Amino acid sequence: MIVTIDGPAGAGKSTVARKLAERLGFSYLDTGAMYRALTWLAMREGLPLGESDALGDLARRNPVTFDEVGRVFISNTDVTSAIRHSRIDRMVPVVARHHEVREVMRERQRELGHQGNVVIEGRDIGTVVAPDAEVKVYLHADPEIRAARRQAERPDIGGDALATDLRIRDASDRVRMQPAEDAALIDTTDLEVDDVVSRIEELIRSRSLATS
Ligand code: DC
Repeated sequence: MIVTIDGPAGAGKSTVARKLAERLGFSYLDTGAMYRALTWLAMREGLPLGESDALGDLARRNPVTFDEVGRVFISNTDVTSAIRHSRIDRMVPVVARHHEVREVMRERQRELGHQGNVVIEGRDIGTVVAPDAEVKVYLHADPEIRAARRQAERPDIGGDALATDLRIRDASDRVRMQPAEDAALIDTTDLEVDDVVSRIEELIRSRSLATS
């Protein structure tokens, strides 16, 4: 079974998807980490981030891998922490925008996602990467709450700068941020992580009953 969790930054995707996968005994795929890892590599190589073909080629030659505890690797380097820096936050939408990059990433995501039961989180998973997924969820939340959640993860940046970064990132990600028509929309503004996870579990149960 594939469960997709899409939505904007700070809506709670990663925390919810990780916990859900743990409760269900599913594997977990963080597709944002893949775009982040490629951005890290492109910056290390000094590749101009406007060059679609070169970036697509870099992505093809350097598949992102994950180990069993979710550490992220590219080009034989463990980039798990490096990809969470604010400089990557700012540059990743520039890289993720290129069609050539997305094609390579989506192909790899489908490959990784078809190895059994999995929770996949991202922006375009329910719409493009896994349109046939059995359960699709789209998380959203008020912008202030999303900025506050990001602030907790990025104590090195001021609140105003973070809110601005988030706005710019939203604008850039917007085309890919549409919920799938058959996705369940969950507003996480006033919900605890466990409540969101329980709602999704309930949804999975109801879908499984409907199809059994
Ligand atoms: O979820 P995140 O913040 O780690 O995502 C990092 C960036 O990658 C963000 O700008 C959106 C982009 N992204 C995307 O375009 N498609 C995905 N499936 C996942 C992430």
